[in-house]
Amino acid sequence: MTEVKATNITWHEGHVDREAREKLLKQKGALIWFTGLSGSGKSTIAFTLEHALVERGHLAYCLDGDNVRHGLNKNLGFSAEDRAENIRRIAEVGKLFVDAGIVTCTSFISPYRADRDNAREVVGDRFIEVFVDTPLDVCEDRDPKGLYKKARAGEIKGFTGIDDPYEAPEKPEVVINTANLSPQEATVQLVELLEQRGYIEKLSS
Ligand code: ADX
Repeated sequence: MTEVKATNITWHEGHVDREAREKLLKQKGALIWFTGLSGSGKSTIAFTLEHALVERGHLAYCLDGDNVRHGLNKNLGFSAEDRAENIRRIAEVGKLFVDAGIVTCTSFISPYRADRDNAREVVGDRFIEVFVDTPLDVCEDRDPKGLYKKARAGEIKGFTGIDDPYEAPEKPEVVINTANLSPQEATVQLVELLEQRGYIEKLSS
């Protein structure tokens, strides 16, 4: 549990609410939470979706694990506690983005089920969990950053999938099997889901 140190603080309600921002943007805020192993294709799909949405005239933004760890979360490592704090902060930032009316993608391994469930609770019913289900051997073959090789050689300790756990989601809203779907095909599927759920409007043909 996060220690609460903020005392004597008062919530200040603004004059513009989420509905007003959503009317302005002609869309609804949502959080598409990608989870999966390093090298599974989370970020590729998340950035492809962000691009497709912006091309369609929607405001979308991608919070990416490696990128966020360059700034906001640069003081966090990969212990279970630090990963929990990483995910907690992103859930809170994601909640703010949803309140801003933005279709937000987050791309974090988020290996622990409990941390993802906490994120779902923080964000509420606009949380869409997407499991990028790429088997470890495929991720390891790809090894885009050469990190699996280092982990196997013992140069990196506690690497997810090698000597640190990954707890697959039990009931994600979407499972993307990357053996059968390209990032573009996955994006089409996700755009359709956002349309069906009323977050974005269908394009008139
Ligand atoms: S998470 O587990 O806390 O959700 P996050 O998605 O932010 O992880 O960062 C994962 C990225 O950090 C990986 O894609 C990889 O590039 C890098 N990384 C460095 N060390 C590790 C490690 N021990 N385990 C997993 N990823 C690591």
